[in-house]
Amino acid sequence: MSDQQAYEPRKNVVVAIDGLAASGKGTVARLCAQRFGYAHLDTGLLYRAVAAKVVDRGADPADPATQDLAIAAAGGLTLMDLQRADLRDARTGAAASYVAAYGAVRAKLLDYQREFALKPPGGARGAVLDGRDIGTVVCPDADVKLFVVARPEVRAHRRCLELRGRGFEADPKQVEADLVARDERDRTRAESPMTQAADAILLDTSDLSIDASIDEASSIILRHIGADNTTA
Ligand code: DC
Repeated sequence: MSDQQAYEPRKNVVVAIDGLAASGKGTVARLCAQRFGYAHLDTGLLYRAVAAKVVDRGADPADPATQDLAIAAAGGLTLMDLQRADLRDARTGAAASYVAAYGAVRAKLLDYQREFALKPPGGARGAVLDGRDIGTVVCPDADVKLFVVARPEVRAHRRCLELRGRGFEADPKQVEADLVARDERDRTRAESPMTQAADAILLDTSDLSIDASIDEASSIILRHIGADNTTA
């Protein structure tokens, strides 16, 4: 490699952020993307949008008989589907975890995610993708991989605050049970189960504020990509 090449900043950094439900991975991904000037894709929204379309048809995403509907929904997903106001509802999250277990649904969503990572929109110099299988399946060659966790009661508390902030009632015990059940489903499914990639760095946000979580994640990212690859 010539000296000139050695000093040329690498293009198109890919940051993969996976982790447990309500661990803070989405916030970490969004704010780190902002800090580094990278594009951000919340891949959970794709699965949530598929589930919402199945529910629109009056079907139950937890019923395996609705698998074909889910596959068709994944194949026909549009950007408008990703802008629905109900995607972040707790019910949609639980439903998403069922449609996400179908290999054919995942296969239909794979190209879009990889394309986003490869060619981030808006000419961004990098992409941050968050989900469950980004570091293991979608972008196994990502420059940096994080796996974000937090204790169940902490995640339930945060999710309750978020739900109440949006005007919903939330019982911490029920929310915690739902999150744990969802993690278990995501972790034990046959297709692309949620798991920490061998080269992912564990980030436990249980005792960290949002700012501290972002600082910690940012310094891990910087350590891996080098300061000359950022606009931060
Ligand atoms: O991150 P989230 O809570 O919005 O994700 C909703 C569900 O979608 C999650 O329970 C499992 C599924 N999912 C997935 O299987 N793979 C991803 N990359 C992202 C989400």
